[in-house]
Amino acid sequence: MDIVVVGDINVDLIFAGLPSLPSFRELKHAKSMKFTLGGSSAIFACNIARLGASTGFVGKVGKDHLGDFLVEALVAAGVDTSRIVRDSELPTGICVSMSFPNDYAMVSYPGIRESFSLKEIDIDYIKQARHLHMSSFYLQPGLQPGSPELFRQAKYAGLMTSLDPDHDPNEKWNGGMQQLLHDVDLFLPNEVEATKIARTEELEAAGKSLAGFGHTTVIKVGAKGVCVFCGDKHIHAPAFAIQPLDTTGAGDSFNAGFIFQHLRGAPLPKCIAWGNACGALSTRALGGTEAFPTASEVETFLAERRHESVAMGGEPPGI
Ligand SMILES: Nc1ncnc2c1ncn2[C@@H]1O[C@H](COP(=O)(O)OP(=O)(O)O)[C@@H](O)[C@H]1O
Ligand SMILES: [Mg+2]
Repeated sequence: MDIVVVGDINVDLIFAGLPSLPSFRELKHAKSMKFTLGGSSAIFACNIARLGASTGFVGKVGKDHLGDFLVEALVAAGVDTSRIVRDSELPTGICVSMSFPNDYAMVSYPGIRESFSLKEIDIDYIKQARHLHMSSFYLQPGLQPGSPELFRQAKYAGLMTSLDPDHDPNEKWNGGMQQLLHDVDLFLPNEVEATKIARTEELEAAGKSLAGFGHTTVIKVGAKGVCVFCGDKHIHAPAFAIQPLDTTGAGDSFNAGFIFQHLRGAPLPKCIAWGNACGALSTRALGGTEAFPTASEVETFLAERRHESVAMGGEPPGI
């Protein structure tokens, strides 16, 4: 197994083409709708499998229709679901999102995913992979206390590790994150998350402080691309110029492209170009997995956008 992904999984119900957000006692009609696999970790697993990495997903869903739907979606993407925990104690989570070209509003029911904890994870299974990835640290209160132990064991067994913290809905930005960061090789926050976790307003100060933990910090800045901090090195790579339809899962798709190349030992500029390409291409349709490209589609896109790709860190990314 190339990569094992541990973390959040839920259904996403996305509405797009709304004239504006509805107010109380108001009904708005959406022009399009998607009922699809969601949860940053699950979207990432699906997408990196689509690129060709052999992938296992470890998380928790209910014994209900939504749980069946999610497991089937992962199986269809070629992800190993044998270690997914199913329990009837609570329903599977669902997130309703109202999506606008550059913004969104969401309502989430986390359901059973919040109770998933370290004791439900088969550590021997994790150790079979070359790489461990986790997303949505702050959305998983059950898993948070055990995460440092999970990452420590993965590192001890020789795995590479990566973490995308995602947003903290409680705006506390702690929960053992500092402890966990010592065992993370690739840290992948967006701009808001990076500055909040580093407790500074400045992106550059945040990047330097986070890279001080000894890993590569990749800060995603939406349409502005990414800033990468690695030791004393600092690279800013612009994003591809596109008109996004729905940015749900753009960060997770970036992670999939970046880590797919990292797994193959590619140099940093190539990892960045693949991350930016996957992030950009994923915004062509509603949901986090729908428009995600295959590896050959990424190669075609990079060739077509050669001038932009070359700007992503010096060396041409190669195709
Ligand atoms: N409007 C956009 N134009 C081009 N690329 C984008 C756009 N939005 C996102 N991306 C790509 O997806 C990556 C992640 O998006 P971002 O919104 O920063 O992450 P997150 O979804 O975690 O907040 C960006 O670094 C970029 O490569
Ligand atoms: Mg994100």
